[in-house]
Amino acid sequence: MQKYLSDSNEINLRLPGPVPVPKEILEEQSKPLINHRGNDYKLLLNECTKNLKNIYATNNDLFIFTCSGTGVMEASVSNFLSENDEIIVASVGWFGDRFSEIANSYNIKVNNINFELGEIININILEEFIKSNPNAKALYITHNETSTGVQNDLKSISFLAKKYSLLYVVDGISSVASVPCNTDELEIDVLISASQKGWVAPPGLAFMSISKKAWEFHCNSSSPKYYFDISQYKKYLEKGQPPFTPAIGIMYALNKSLKLLLDETMTKVYERHTDAANKIRSKLQEIGFELFPKNESFASNTLTAVKVPENINCSKFLNILENEHQVIISTGQGNLSGKILRIGHLGIVSDEEINWLINSILETLKSLNNE
Ligand SMILES: Cc1ncc(COP(=O)(O)O)c(C=O)c1O
Repeated sequence: MQKYLSDSNEINLRLPGPVPVPKEILEEQSKPLINHRGNDYKLLLNECTKNLKNIYATNNDLFIFTCSGTGVMEASVSNFLSENDEIIVASVGWFGDRFSEIANSYNIKVNNINFELGEIININILEEFIKSNPNAKALYITHNETSTGVQNDLKSISFLAKKYSLLYVVDGISSVASVPCNTDELEIDVLISASQKGWVAPPGLAFMSISKKAWEFHCNSSSPKYYFDISQYKKYLEKGQPPFTPAIGIMYALNKSLKLLLDETMTKVYERHTDAANKIRSKLQEIGFELFPKNESFASNTLTAVKVPENINCSKFLNILENEHQVIISTGQGNLSGKILRIGHLGIVSDEEINWLINSILETLKSLNNE
């Protein structure tokens, strides 16, 4: 498996997605195109759906959409809610806030509870907030907040969602397939993810699982929907087809990556992510960086966010890293732009790539300090 895990790359792409994709997966995209209403595509779609459900650990319906993650975030609003419905969005950052922006655009009444950047959702505070908003029908949260590098505790949030009978919608875009996220055990009604993250596939596909309860919400939803209407996806999947022309090349790549993940076993995939996260997090701290998460126990296993040292110009730092060391990482979004560095370690990260990353960061710091 290590062979699959590491291709020699000319760049060390350490974004929190898209992730480096090994050649054997990328090359699947150059297969000849097929009839998406024919038998070969039916086999491909059914196999991908089965393997995705296996990794989601769910018996719920699951559909594949041709879009990035934000497309299914929008689908998770338009398919289950109606104008003037009340929901709770518990946000710990940029991507959590996106749920509110989308819901606002559908004239949903959004009750926002925002936690300080670098914090995770505080269960006691969330419970009080739920109690003070008794008309809310649904709870929207982000499992792994990619903008701050923290990971929420799904178990305790799931408990609250059930206790207060809320439709429970989880953005698992940067967590599912990298860290355990057992849909049925956690009773997640709607779980979304996207191909360019821990799925080790190119960007362009996104996934959504839908529980029985979520289908009941769907039946009562009058929000406008067309391209992402899950009724269409269900009707067509019964025939082994997508409702609209699919991204066939990316589907081939996804099919390959899913097989490789399952061959490796998800237990090992999750262990590999923990291992890479521990190594990168501890090495960055050893060389003087301070973690952005308020507490190390909140730190994500798919990316590490650290504060930019006070004397360092962030954009110069990123430029030197990219142009002189071929290492690509990112800064923060919104108010965190220029203030934090975000280093992705979802998907495949070899020890050589970790050393390359850390040595390059050290050399970049040295050259900036000598300026
Ligand atoms: C947690 C989370 N939610 C939503 C998104 C948005 O996904 P996309 O850029 O694929 O639309 C991202 C992308 O980084 C993400 O990490």
